[in-house]
Amino acid sequence: MTTIAILGQGSMGAGLAGRLADRFALNLGARQPQVGQLGYAEAVAGADIVVLALPYDAALAAIRTLDLAGKTVVDMTNPITPDFAGLRFGHTTSAAEELQQAAPGARVVKAFNTIFASLLSAPRAATAAVPVFIAGNDEAAVAAVAELVQAAGFAVEQTGALDAARLLEPVGMLNIRLGYGLGQGTSIAPTWLRVAA
Ligand SMILES: NC(=O)c1ccc[n+]([C@@H]2O[C@H](COP(=O)([O-])OP(=O)(O)OC[C@H]3O[C@@H](n4cnc5c(N)ncnc54)[C@H](OP(=O)(O)O)[C@@H]3O)[C@@H](O)[C@H]2O)c1
Repeated sequence: MTTIAILGQGSMGAGLAGRLADRFALNLGARQPQVGQLGYAEAVAGADIVVLALPYDAALAAIRTLDLAGKTVVDMTNPITPDFAGLRFGHTTSAAEELQQAAPGARVVKAFNTIFASLLSAPRAATAAVPVFIAGNDEAAVAAVAELVQAAGFAVEQTGALDAARLLEPVGMLNIRLGYGLGQGTSIAPTWLRVAA
């Protein structure tokens, strides 16, 4: 059975764990592990896929210090500025590419950054058509994350190599602006329609 380490038991980490618990072996990683949880390093050891459900700076610290060589690493970060007004990266790089650069041996895949945590506690049927945009440079890692996304009860929208994260992170920011800034709430998600010509 594939083992997935989820680092960070906040809104996204706990929500994703709830969606994946019956389909994968999960190593739940926490800074201060409670019963049933592990420290980050222990959670990563033996895991096939490592999900960084962490704020960007914590994700960067984790990817620098943990042994992630050869592992598929899911980056879901929206690297927003402290005032929530914008993104810290753009145009020429992205959080995902910065993480990849910090750990060249890891196989970083961008996913879930446009999915509000509240969707993870919605009924599975409600999210089955909601796309999770995926970007990554390693074909096998992208395929493994696509499988994880479907197992989590979402649709997959492939966006190509990891530099597509430069485009996906602004979409995550737009989602935040619509949800919080413009008051649409957190039951929204961006999608890509195919229109019959
Ligand atoms: N919330 C959303 O709707 C949403 C949507 C899309 C993407 N994201 C992205 O997903 C990531 C996680 O977001 P979240 O909403 O789950 O955040 P959260 O509820 O604040 O949880 C983040 C978790 O990261 C761990 N952590 C490690 N170092 C930390 C530090 N220095 N400061 C704070 N937390 C630290 C903590 O878990 P432990 O103590 O258990 O280790 C904490 O519970 C972020 O990068 C965010 O941009 C969030």
